[in-house]
Amino acid sequence: MTIPVKSIDEDKLYTDLGYRYQYLCDFIGITDKDIQLVHASAAVLGPKVDILVDAVYDQLFAFSSTKKVFFKERAKYDDPSSEVTLENYDLNKPQIGMRKSSLKRFIVGLVTKPYDERMLAELDRMGRIHTPKGGRTSINVELIHMQALLAFLQDALIAALFAYKNSAEEGSSKFDVEGTVRAFCKILAVQNQFISRWYEDPASRVNASPRLPALPVLPVLAVTGALTAGLTYLAMFK
Ligand code: HEM
Repeated sequence: MTIPVKSIDEDKLYTDLGYRYQYLCDFIGITDKDIQLVHASAAVLGPKVDILVDAVYDQLFAFSSTKKVFFKERAKYDDPSSEVTLENYDLNKPQIGMRKSSLKRFIVGLVTKPYDERMLAELDRMGRIHTPKGGRTSINVELIHMQALLAFLQDALIAALFAYKNSAEEGSSKFDVEGTVRAFCKILAVQNQFISRWYEDPASRVNASPRLPALPVLPVLAVTGALTAGLTYLAMFK
């Protein structure tokens, strides 16, 4: 059997955000139904979003690799003479409250706003603002921490969706948890890719290390996203 080949303008993937998004949607299998399911989860996740955000910040403050980013930026807000160390720097600061509110807005946006040009720009901004490669000089979060946090957030969202499904809350018996979890995995794979693109070395598309063939990052992440969604599907329906 010959599988029809869809022709992809690979240069355009790197110059046109909409085209890049559509490629990821086609490859991973993101449809309007997925977006509808993500939006339909707003009622489920809305009451839990503050708990989610608190859990994310507890996690960021539980590791020196991530806590140090906030510790470093304290100089912009706190009295420089205060006797604060990385160890005793705590979450009860107005600037951390601001960060939490931003993260909350972002999560609420994911489940309420249309996936249009503005949304793509917002998903893209999540990568741009965390790395000097995006033009910021004041913040430098390495990719490993971005991806670790995104995975943490994804797991927390999935846990919240299952908790609702397994509860006796109104509407829970009819809730499509399988479809919603799969939809989130796909959408967050796109978010992951939009973050990662700010960390890519454009030369990595063509340069080959002597021993390892260079794998362009975008198709690798698209395959990983598709695999994650596929495995989630298998785990649920086997
Ligand atoms: C996928 C993971 C992440 C998401 C979705 C996320 C989300 C956000 C959002 C929504 C903002 C506010 C941006 C604005 O409205 O201007 C922000 C800012 C910030 N994030 Fe993250 N973040 C992530 C990972 C991280 C990690 C791992 C760290 C620390 C290690 C971090 C540290 C910060 C800091 C310090 C700011 C303030 C940036 C500034 O205003 O200069 N973020 N993030």
